Amino acid sequence: MKAHQITDSVYAIHADIHTDARFEGIWPIPNGVTLNSYVVKGEKTALIDLAKDWAGSIGQFDQQLASAGTSFEAIDYLVLNHLEPDHTAFLIELRRRNPKAQIVSTPKGIALVKNFFKITDNLREVKTGDTLDLGKDTVLEFFETPNIHWPETMMTFDRKNGILFSCDGFGSYGALGERIFDDEFTAEEHAFFEHESLRYYANIVASFSSFVNKALDKLGALPVKVIAPSHGIIWRKNPAEIVSRYAKYAGYNTGTAPCEKEICVVWGSMYGYTRAGLEAVLDGIRAEGVPFTIHQVPDTDASFVLADAYKAAGLVLAMPTYEYKMFPPMAHILDLFERKHFTSKKVLRLGSWGWVGGAKKEYEERIASFKWTSVESVEWQGVPSQADLSLLTERGRELARLIKEN
Ligand code: FEO
Repeated sequence: MKAHQITDSVYAIHADIHTDARFEGIWPIPNGVTLNSYVVKGEKTALIDLAKDWAGSIGQFDQQLASAGTSFEAIDYLVLNHLEPDHTAFLIELRRRNPKAQIVSTPKGIALVKNFFKITDNLREVKTGDTLDLGKDTVLEFFETPNIHWPETMMTFDRKNGILFSCDGFGSYGALGERIFDDEFTAEEHAFFEHESLRYYANIVASFSSFVNKALDKLGALPVKVIAPSHGIIWRKNPAEIVSRYAKYAGYNTGTAPCEKEICVVWGSMYGYTRAGLEAVLDGIRAEGVPFTIHQVPDTDASFVLADAYKAAGLVLAMPTYEYKMFPPMAHILDLFERKHFTSKKVLRLGSWGWVGGAKKEYEERIASFKWTSVESVEWQGVPSQADLSLLTERGRELARLIKEN
């Protein structure tokens, strides 16, 4: 396998990962994920970010470095934009094979190199505006971008070639195959990766959207020609596309961009009575012509629920009472909504109860700190009556009208 050449002096080391293991141990990746590292050559050679020995990815690394005319032993600098082990797990092996390569990262990144990997020498701390001269007019400039998506993260800019090495920022789930540049994919393939980038953002970046906004401001003046993330497509034809996509995502929960005029329906039902009530709500939403996505929990993994719920202006949460409280899979979803700051939604909650209620009380306590606009909720005992169903349809219409007016 060969490295992909970006310019005369810059190469992408690319590995596709297909695994049943979850990203970060949480998020399913049925479509795989890529790991991109980069070689930048001047008189000196820098390797930007590493990879995890995940389903054999490291085995391809040496081969690709050789095709780029270098090797682990020949690297002069290892730039670590981010210390999460999907980009650093090979660090100890690299240091063993090449102790002279200087490791470059932010102060918090260097602290992790010391404390996490127990490597204590030949380290260089860099801050925003610091540079690394590789010779032959090739200078790397560093920009701290904290919390995109962990505290130590930075991005690296190659001024000569206009390439922004953004690590997790501007990344996506989804294995790419042999094509890695944006101009090599069809519109249909881009639509697929767009949803995978939204899911990636909702899963691992959404908690830090205010930091994404700050980074976009900080990086906005750079003459970027190529965006080279560590996961997903390398944007050489239209880097503005992924930047505008991230600006939109960051706006969904910070208010700098509106959520989409659609509804995400999340439901769980023990014996079908909550589902029966939900059908009446869906009739109301359909009657108003508002598009919706629908996910059953726990059957659908929270990763996919988060993606559709994150972008939607409206939510329907349908759950029965269980052990005097909310249906537990829905409590988990609400917990994630809180952690990822799902703010400013318009929401309808409904559900049945059997022996005694309780979901309503717990739900209202849980969302007290959310900035949600709630349509009046509907609860009923057991099988919904005709009057319940009529009311539920009207509440569905009410929510849909709020979304249309939004
Ligand atoms: Fe791809 Fe946060 O590591």
